[in-house]
Amino acid sequence: MTQKQRVAVTRRLPRICEERLAARYDVRLGDDGVVYTAETLAAHAAGAAALLVTPSEALTAAAIAALPATVKIISTVSVGFEHVDLAAAKARGIRVGNTPDVLTDATADIALLLMLAATRRASEGERMVRSGAWTGLRPTFFLGTQITGKRLGIIGMGRIGAALAKRAQACGMRVLYHNRKPAADAAGATFVATLDELLAHSDVLSLHCPLTPETKGLLNAARIAQLPQGAVVINTARGGLIEDDALIVALQSGKIYAAGLDVYAGEPALDARYKTLENVFLLPHIGSATIETRTAMGMLAIDNMEAVLNGVAPPHAVA
Ligand code: DGY
Repeated sequence: MTQKQRVAVTRRLPRICEERLAARYDVRLGDDGVVYTAETLAAHAAGAAALLVTPSEALTAAAIAALPATVKIISTVSVGFEHVDLAAAKARGIRVGNTPDVLTDATADIALLLMLAATRRASEGERMVRSGAWTGLRPTFFLGTQITGKRLGIIGMGRIGAALAKRAQACGMRVLYHNRKPAADAAGATFVATLDELLAHSDVLSLHCPLTPETKGLLNAARIAQLPQGAVVINTARGGLIEDDALIVALQSGKIYAAGLDVYAGEPALDARYKTLENVFLLPHIGSATIETRTAMGMLAIDNMEAVLNGVAPPHAVA
């Protein structure tokens, strides 16, 4: 009997993904509680032909340099791949795959949820009911603001942006977007040629672009100043797109009416001031966290891995 190839997986996967792996490979499963360093990642990957990771692992140039020579592919269970140094992987001849498409609807749902929760003060309201501080319905009690008739500005009209545009239009919003060039499928949203113009016309602004050196800190104080008074900010993409200081000051002053955030720079740590603000709705990076979507992501990550182990290109290669 031929020996099974070893594959190293940093985190637990949905059961059917783990079963698929176990049927064909010698699987080394990581522990969800571990914070990996370059050294512990390399130790985990010892003897493995493939390494399945998530955005919680930093595959820096140093971490990639430390990986054993057996590793042929880094397959990330995510669409985002900013945590993998692609140049370092290429330099070592290691392929990198990601999991686009399958998380589009789940993530757009969370963006809509954040938008509604932020504008309707859901977090504050829930806390009030739980604490017993609710004293009953009054005509002017606990008023939020309505999304119907408002303008949604989307930065980054990819698949998730388009899926959010559909949802927002169904809620009666007018949708504008800014990209480097008009998108092939903008789901009926209107292209705006400059970011300045988009900002000036966004009652709600939702971020859907990747985190790159160019987009890091994109939503800074100067850009927040360009938004209409009382605008709402939504982020399901990456925390590093926002300068936290600038957003927090704007939330405190009322320039920004509310924010809905699922992602944070340095997560799971986040700027402690967010937790003190009533007008922020905070979620723990769960954009794609449904059993259906995480299963599909796991399966796609395994497809990428398996392709490379079978000597062909991964279906979703980023390097
Ligand atoms: C991704 O896929 O990049 C998400 O942020 C994690 O689900």
